[in-house]
Amino acid sequence: MSTTLITNIGELTTNVGGASAPGDPCGTLRDAAVLVVDGRVAWVGPADEAEDVSSRFARSTTREPSVVERGSEATETKRVDAGGGAVIPGFVDSHTHIVFGGDRADEFEARMTGTAYAAGGIRRTVAATRAATDAELRARLAGFVAELHAQGTTTFEVKTGYGLTVDDEARLARLAAEVTPEVTFLGAHVVPAEYAERREDYIALVVGDMLDACAPHSRWVDVFCERGAFTPDESRRILDAGIARGLLPRVHGNQLGPGDGVQLAVAVGAASVDHCTYLSDADVAALAASDTVATLLPGVEFSTRQPYPDARRLIDAGVTVALASDCNPGSSFTSSMPLMIALAVREMGMTPAEAVWAATAGGARALRRDDVGVITAGACADLVLLDAPTRVHLAYRPGVPLVSRVWKDGAELTPA
Ligand code: NIG
Ligand code: FE
Repeated sequence: MSTTLITNIGELTTNVGGASAPGDPCGTLRDAAVLVVDGRVAWVGPADEAEDVSSRFARSTTREPSVVERGSEATETKRVDAGGGAVIPGFVDSHTHIVFGGDRADEFEARMTGTAYAAGGIRRTVAATRAATDAELRARLAGFVAELHAQGTTTFEVKTGYGLTVDDEARLARLAAEVTPEVTFLGAHVVPAEYAERREDYIALVVGDMLDACAPHSRWVDVFCERGAFTPDESRRILDAGIARGLLPRVHGNQLGPGDGVQLAVAVGAASVDHCTYLSDADVAALAASDTVATLLPGVEFSTRQPYPDARRLIDAGVTVALASDCNPGSSFTSSMPLMIALAVREMGMTPAEAVWAATAGGARALRRDDVGVITAGACADLVLLDAPTRVHLAYRPGVPLVSRVWKDGAELTPA
C-alpha cells in the first residue's frame, strides 16, 4: 500500500460543487490536506484533522485481510508539506495533436508579418509525418508528454490527423494509445493532396478502411468541419460512421468563420465542440440546451492573430466551457495550460476561478471523465502544487513557471 499525506495546503481547488460558498466553481478549501492511498484520493479536509485521519486510515486498512495477506507491503505514510501553497487538480488537456513530424516555424514567422492562417498548412505536416519513422515519432511524442507533465497536465487527449493514409493514421493512433487512453481518430483533418481532385474517394476511405484500422486504438472520432476542410454533410457522414463503430464524437468547428460545426456537434450528441470562435446566438442557445461542452483554444487565436472566442457570452448563457491547448505545429504550438488560463482571463472575460475550473473539471467533462479534474475521495490522485498561495497567480503571473510538484495517480512526476 502506498500512502501520501499532503498537508499545509493554503488553498485547495477541489472543483466539488457545494464544498464552499455558492458561486465558487472551484469548491475551494483553505488550510486543507489531502490523503492519497494507492493512487486515489482517500480523504480531503482541514489540515488540523489530517494526522488523526491518516493514522485512523492506516489502522483500519492494515486490519483488512487483503493487506495482512500482503504482509510487509504496508508502508509508512509519505508526508508532503505544501508550505501554504495552492493545490489544484492536474490539468486536463482535452485537445492536442502531438503526434507529428517536423514543424512550421516558417509559416508562423510569415503569419506574424501578415500572412493569414489557412487549413491547408496541415498538408505540410502530413508530408513530414509520413516521412518520419515510428521511432522518431515515438521519441517526439515522449518529449511532448514530458513537457505536458512538467507543466501540470496529467490527462491529455491526442488526435491522429497528420497521416491521412490507412497505414499512417493507424500508426499514429497506435503510438498515441501508448501514452494516453484518450485517442481521437481525425482522418477527416483535411483532404490530402493526392485526393484533391477526388474528395469523395477520400471520404469513402475514411469511413471504410481507415476507420476499421484506427477504431481499435481510439476512443473518439473527430472531424474538422470548416471551409477548406470538410462540409457539414461530409462531417456528419464521417461522425456517424465513427459512432457506428463505437467511437464517441467530438468536432472541430467555427474556428475560421461562422459555420455549422456547433449545430452538427449538438445534433450528434458530441462530448465537445472545439474552437467556437465565431458563434451565432442560435449556436450559443443550442450549446446551452445540450450536454456538449464548448472547448476554447486560445493558443490558436494567440498564434494566428484571430479574435478570441467570447467565453463570457457562453458562460453567461449557461454553456459548459473547457480550455485546452490544441498543441499542434500549425495553429498553436504550445502545450501550456497555464498560458491558456492567462489568455482566457486577460482576453476572453473569464474569472481566474472559471478559467482554472475550465482547464481541469471542464476538460474532464469534454472527455466525459468523472475521475479526473476533481480532488475528492475516489478520484485519481492527479494533483499540482503551485509555487504560489492561490490559483489566481496562474493568470496574475503569466509566463512564470509556477507548477512546482505534480502527481499522477499518486506517483510524483516531478523530481521532489
Ligand atoms: O485545431 N483545426 C484543425 N486542426 C488544427 C490545426 C492543425 C494545423 O494547422 O496543423 C487546429 O487548429
Ligand atoms: Fe485541433
